[in-house]
Amino acid sequence: MEKKWWHKTVGYQIYPKSFQDTNGDGIGDLKGVIRHLDKIEKLGANVIWLCPVFASPMVDNGYDISDYMDIDPSFGTMEDMKELIAEAKKRGIRILMDLVVNHSSDRHAWFQAALQDPFGKYGKYYVFREGKDGKEPNNWRSIFGGSAWEKVPGYDNLYYLHIFTKEQPDLNWENPELREEIYEMILKWMDLGLGGFRLDAISHLKKNYQYTNLPPDGPDEYNMAFEYFNNVDGLADILCEMKDALTIGEYDHMGPEDVEDVIGENGSFSSVFDFCHTLDNVRNPKWGNTVALFDDYRDQLFAAQKIVDGRGMLCNFLENHDKPRSIDRFLMPEDQNLYSEKMLPVTNFFLPGIVFLYQGQEIGMRDDPKQSIQGFVDKPTFAIYDRLIAEGKTDAEALEQINCESREHSRTPMQWDASAEAGFTTGTPWFPVNKNYTELNYEAEEKDPDSLLWFYRKMVAVRRREDLEETFLYGTLIPEYETVSGVLAYRRKDEKNNVLILTTSLADGITLPFTDTIEEVLLNNYDTCEAGEETIRLQPYQCLVLKVKE
Ligand code: GLC
Ligand code: CA
Repeated sequence: MEKKWWHKTVGYQIYPKSFQDTNGDGIGDLKGVIRHLDKIEKLGANVIWLCPVFASPMVDNGYDISDYMDIDPSFGTMEDMKELIAEAKKRGIRILMDLVVNHSSDRHAWFQAALQDPFGKYGKYYVFREGKDGKEPNNWRSIFGGSAWEKVPGYDNLYYLHIFTKEQPDLNWENPELREEIYEMILKWMDLGLGGFRLDAISHLKKNYQYTNLPPDGPDEYNMAFEYFNNVDGLADILCEMKDALTIGEYDHMGPEDVEDVIGENGSFSSVFDFCHTLDNVRNPKWGNTVALFDDYRDQLFAAQKIVDGRGMLCNFLENHDKPRSIDRFLMPEDQNLYSEKMLPVTNFFLPGIVFLYQGQEIGMRDDPKQSIQGFVDKPTFAIYDRLIAEGKTDAEALEQINCESREHSRTPMQWDASAEAGFTTGTPWFPVNKNYTELNYEAEEKDPDSLLWFYRKMVAVRRREDLEETFLYGTLIPEYETVSGVLAYRRKDEKNNVLILTTSLADGITLPFTDTIEEVLLNNYDTCEAGEETIRLQPYQCLVLKVKE
């Protein structure tokens, strides 16, 4: 594999709205990000992915952009953005912005012009279609619920496509004029010194324009039609031009046949956030216990690596702004403790690929279940709620499911200290702070060398250690103990190093056959490593990263 600067990425994702408010309006801002850059540097991250801060009416918290060349006033100014890029650079950190180009906001000037004249120049920037038999052009369901089509005001039988909310009309990537505008915008941003982009919902850009009706898959008569707007052939051609920067596509389920086009040597992106394992939730009755989930998780991780097979870099992550917190997602309450919390991130942190952490993950932030559906604020949550009720669930059942699966858990404000509102704001936060902040916060962990925060720093330091880094990046991956339930283990090996990563989700620990000779214990969530002549005993929820003899 040809070596690239971005292979060494240890990324840190920031959801600016919930990171740090500096002017008391209850909304996190760019100055707040600047305030904490030293902490991110201390953690060892060298890339920050900033969720969208562009001008936006905030129907989807910034994933609905009304001006790609401007910063939303709630986050600050263009000057703040430039300062952030410069301050980050001083600390060896590059900034990725979140490029949301599957759709724009309905308030974007292009869409406003398109509504005035759907058949003119800007109408071709979006997807307008005639209805069929008094109904929508077809029965695709929006990912956020309801029809994926919305009637154009002032027309009897004209609709526009939106695979997310109706305030997020899809852009027409078939139109070369639109593509040119987007490329120009990307280049302008790159000129400001960005490290690259995270590309939102990228596997949806290219659509299958047959527009046939599909058999309904729910009581609403719609069909999720995923295969019609996901990974459709031809996407690769559209995006090849962004190659030099670090570009990470949000990409649902990359198949073996997609690897070359997507992340191969000449592929469209540097890397992808693939969701193969992030759908897992231990509270889903399908798993119901930590070990069963872990076994599946392990198989999915290794399967994804096998698919890629050294042809490109996956992005290894556990959390993002669209998922519940990993401790609550991967560990049953009875398995949650400081040992298991430290073990969890080790599971995929040393796999081939780049790595990303999400704000608050490093201090073990947790889900924040609500007492009623009114406690949530995200539009799609209400669409999911309506769908569950339509499917016959009671209010309590729907709430329980949403409390288990909601992406809003990861959006509670960052817990900096034990002062009012966790130090996030001096005003009223836009979304309530998790009540556990008096105990669980950054400052408390900073003071405690045994804390999760300190452990995350050690973990990053091991991965970036000069004499080991190449092994973790380019070394061979050898899964170990693959058939032992409750054990997730692998080896990374090259001419220089042989490193064994051992983790267990077993509450009683386990003794495994072991013939390696340990040279150095690189990482351990216990004080002791119980290795004998022929066996090694893993203590409950233990994780070990061991440098062993070649
Ligand atoms: C992506 C984002 C998500 C957003 C959606 C629509 O999946 O991660 O937060 O709601 O795209 O832009
Ligand atoms: Ca603010």
